[in-house]
Amino acid sequence: MSGFQSSTRLVPDTSGVPRHIAIIMDGNGRWAKQRFLPRVAGHQRGVETVREVVRDCRKMGVKYLTLFAFSSENWRRPAEEVSFLMQLFLKMLEREVNKLHKNGIRLKIIGDRSRFDAKLVRLIEDAEHLTDSNTELTLTIAANYGGRWDIMQATQAMLRARPDMAANFCDAGKAVSFNEDDLEPYLSTHYAPEPDLFIRTGGEQRISNFLLWQMAYTELYFTDTLWPAFDHDAFQAAIQSYQARERRFGRTSEQVRSEQVRGEPVQEKK
Ligand code: IPE
Ligand code: IPE
Ligand code: MG
Repeated sequence: MSGFQSSTRLVPDTSGVPRHIAIIMDGNGRWAKQRFLPRVAGHQRGVETVREVVRDCRKMGVKYLTLFAFSSENWRRPAEEVSFLMQLFLKMLEREVNKLHKNGIRLKIIGDRSRFDAKLVRLIEDAEHLTDSNTELTLTIAANYGGRWDIMQATQAMLRARPDMAANFCDAGKAVSFNEDDLEPYLSTHYAPEPDLFIRTGGEQRISNFLLWQMAYTELYFTDTLWPAFDHDAFQAAIQSYQARERRFGRTSEQVRSEQVRGEPVQEKK
């Protein structure tokens, strides 16, 4: 877990492809409704878009793709829809993992697994284990994920691993000294650089408790296109928007154009 470098320290070159893309795949329900279909038909069709986006990322050389599949708030949906989404996730794992593996894709699942049934947890663990040494693309699925949950679980895990720190926490007389670098190895995305580009389909302009910590300096892109209709051209439009941006991370434009602060976005992590 060593070698973490926040992407807010070095300025990645935006003229190339983003190294890490994070997506909120929204608009499945509305896509179905427009066609007088049940909402779940939109989720089903959305899987096709996932396949296409994964294929495109691999072709383009994007190294990390993180997809928000189910938020910690999505349990509030009707029970039948929640159950359909869980079944769909399970089926996808059963059917697609071998294909992902053949294509050199490493699969990671982030989120709170405590509400998943044992069969799903086992499939997740097996899939992660099977694909662990693949290097073409790291595909992360956020399932029962929430950005606040992630920060809380990371803090708890850090204190469990560092009893010295935890003792200081409880002792009002002592200074509590830990910093971002102490916490970051415990975030659920510790193996990935921070996202360069965030895409949200479906027209809403909000983060919906996705990667709150990790997206501190991510470029944001919102499109009205509904997720099942988000095709190759729509994806390329998002990438082109990213490539036209200047990331400054607090610096001035003149500084950014000078050589000193430019660099590889972050080190490769394992
Ligand atoms: C996103 O599509 C998929 C999930 C949240 C699982 P929605 O189901 O939110 O679709 P809309 O926003 O109702 O159209
Ligand atoms: C966000 O979509 C979560 C996923 C895409 C999994 P929602 O459709 O649930 O978001 P809100 O609740 O409208 O913000
Ligand atoms: Mg939605």
